[in-house]
Amino acid sequence: MEKITVTVLARMKADGQKITALTAYDFPFARMVDESGVDIILVGDSLGMVVQGETSTLPVTMDQMIYHTRIVARGVKRAMVVGDMPFMSYQASVSQAVENAGRFLKEAGASAVKLEGGASVARTIEAIAAAGIPVQAHIGLTPQSVHQMGGFKVQRQEDKLLDDAKKVQDAGAFSVVLEGIPFAISQKITASLSIPTIGIGAGADCDGQILVLHDLLGLNEGHVPKFAKRYAQLAKDARAALGQYVGEVKEKAFPTKEHSFK
Ligand code: KIV
Repeated sequence: MEKITVTVLARMKADGQKITALTAYDFPFARMVDESGVDIILVGDSLGMVVQGETSTLPVTMDQMIYHTRIVARGVKRAMVVGDMPFMSYQASVSQAVENAGRFLKEAGASAVKLEGGASVARTIEAIAAAGIPVQAHIGLTPQSVHQMGGFKVQRQEDKLLDDAKKVQDAGAFSVVLEGIPFAISQKITASLSIPTIGIGAGADCDGQILVLHDLLGLNEGHVPKFAKRYAQLAKDARAALGQYVGEVKEKAFPTKEHSFK
């Protein structure tokens, strides 16, 4: 089993091998995702919305991210674990960004961090990478800037997106997430970069794809974006199981002798 590293991901792009990525937020799912052969497991700040029930990712804290990253890392043997830097953990100063990025590796067992932004965070990416911490950038629809973007909207400014992608690569990012970008623009970005692009709502031509685990498994009963494909209906299955348990206890059908001690 080859452990996924930045070198392996670079080689996969060079060989034209697609990279798979998913989010995870806890030990049991991290283990299942890892054993499915996914290459990158992102402990996304999307946990604010799909685990904590918030309406945006903005309230998520560093301590919460460290906690979730640690329990995910414990379940992963092969994939690269990436810790997502939450809102205001890297924006206020470069030195605070480096310190917080370091916590993901030192305290939580991540092998890399992700942060949102393009040219505007290039200096921050450079400083984190200079500290020996692999950084994944994230451009296009960046959920932490939801208020500045006027909502969760597809981003279409081609020149700016190409410039952002080039700047984060030059700053030392090992990869870049492209979110909510028309496929023709993502295709140009992917062709213009030497680092792998990982798309979400960015078309099929990215070097890899990422989805939010709860969207893929049908665990998220809230809004599911157009780009997210549901491969299972786990919320429906869970509701059926829970209803059955309640019914059986009420009707004295559970527990039986089989579930009792002599
Ligand atoms: O927080 C997250 O889950 C993400 C992915 C959607 C890329 O940033």
